Amino acid sequence: MRVQVAIIGGGPSGLLLGQLLHKAGINAVVLERKTREYVLTRIRAGVLERGLVDLLDQAGVATRLKKESLTHEGVMISSNDDYLELDFNKHIQQHVTVYGQTELTRDLYDAREAAHAKTLFNVENVTLNDITTDSPSIDCTVDGHTVHIDCDYIAGCDGYHGVSRQHIPQDKRNEFIKEYPFGWLGVMSETTPVHSELIYSMSDRGFALCSMRNPKLTRYYIQCDSKDSVDNWSDDSFWNELRGRIPEEYAAKLETGPSIEMSIAPLRSFVCEPMQWGNLYLCGDAAHIVPPTGAKGLNTAASDVHYLFTALKHRYQENESTLLERYSQTALKRVWKVQRFSWWMTSMLHRFPEQSLFERKLQQAEFDFLKQNDAAQAALATNYVGLPY
Ligand code: APR
Ligand code: PHB
Repeated sequence: MRVQVAIIGGGPSGLLLGQLLHKAGINAVVLERKTREYVLTRIRAGVLERGLVDLLDQAGVATRLKKESLTHEGVMISSNDDYLELDFNKHIQQHVTVYGQTELTRDLYDAREAAHAKTLFNVENVTLNDITTDSPSIDCTVDGHTVHIDCDYIAGCDGYHGVSRQHIPQDKRNEFIKEYPFGWLGVMSETTPVHSELIYSMSDRGFALCSMRNPKLTRYYIQCDSKDSVDNWSDDSFWNELRGRIPEEYAAKLETGPSIEMSIAPLRSFVCEPMQWGNLYLCGDAAHIVPPTGAKGLNTAASDVHYLFTALKHRYQENESTLLERYSQTALKRVWKVQRFSWWMTSMLHRFPEQSLFERKLQQAEFDFLKQNDAAQAALATNYVGLPY
């Protein structure tokens, strides 16, 4: 098989890149290790920056999103029973869109199938060949059969545990990592959201987040020990702990119900530099991971896709490779600003097991300053709704 771009990974990064390339008449194949059904079982954050919504629109995949998504003009940040309702419009006249990543991924798969664009599922034993030459290729097995793919470029969209990043020589790869000493225990339930917008709550008992997918489907998280297990939690114990971590006036009206999903996710910050090697370009979780506190994982995958798609379109339509040569440098500038914001939100809102009383006082002062200072609120709003591409 021969394509212009071979995309490894059929998650949001790979699918969005594939759809944009298809719309631009650039021939690409998506190689996915799992099945479409498996990919669509993943539950991830659903807060979309304006840039991602615009990209989905550009890719022709925003129809259902425009019908079913929620628009949020602000967010609540609380500290025990004290809280700040941060109004985005007061500072930057922008908003965020709430639409589950699963639904976004479903829409991207539907569009890919409608376009009869090639996707290989159950792909195994992926090896990248000659990525520093002008004729890179991929060998893999699909349902036990060997497949060889010649291409001009390879997009590594295969996530944190993928193979692409490993093809950058170890002595040329700088990996920056910070593991957090806690995880997030998440619950999905068919209940009415406790508030019209998200609540990020710091409390003496630890962090909690009240989120949603639609007016009848909620997503809640509480900070838990990084070694905790869902086996240690019942629905009742989760709801009771959540109530103890959000402002009393919201705890009093919390609608509880059976969990339809309960899982624990670890928190880490990670960046791989560079994000390209020869004709291999990394996008999304293959290159970086953020703690979910700022809802930036999907949104930063989107900015990578924007930069790589723009560079590939420039290469094929203008026969000009400068943007491709600068992809990593361009993408990393924004990646590190997002890393900083995600780390800052995480540091302010979580209880760290070893932290001193002094450090807890600093966290409270961070909240108090945010609550009383417009410039601090504008800075948070600017980062939360999304930095420019
Ligand atoms: N070959 C083919 N596919 C692979 C391989 C491989 N060797 N390794 C991993 N994959 C697939 C995974 O099965 C997954 O579907 O690559 C895809 C990577 O998707 P994600 O991990 O979702 O990463 P990305 O597309 O960059 O999306 C980032 O997803 O994980 C969330 O929080 C993250 O919201 C962010 C978004
Ligand atoms: C979610 O709805 O799953 C979600 C929302 C915001 C976050 C993280 C997760 O910061």
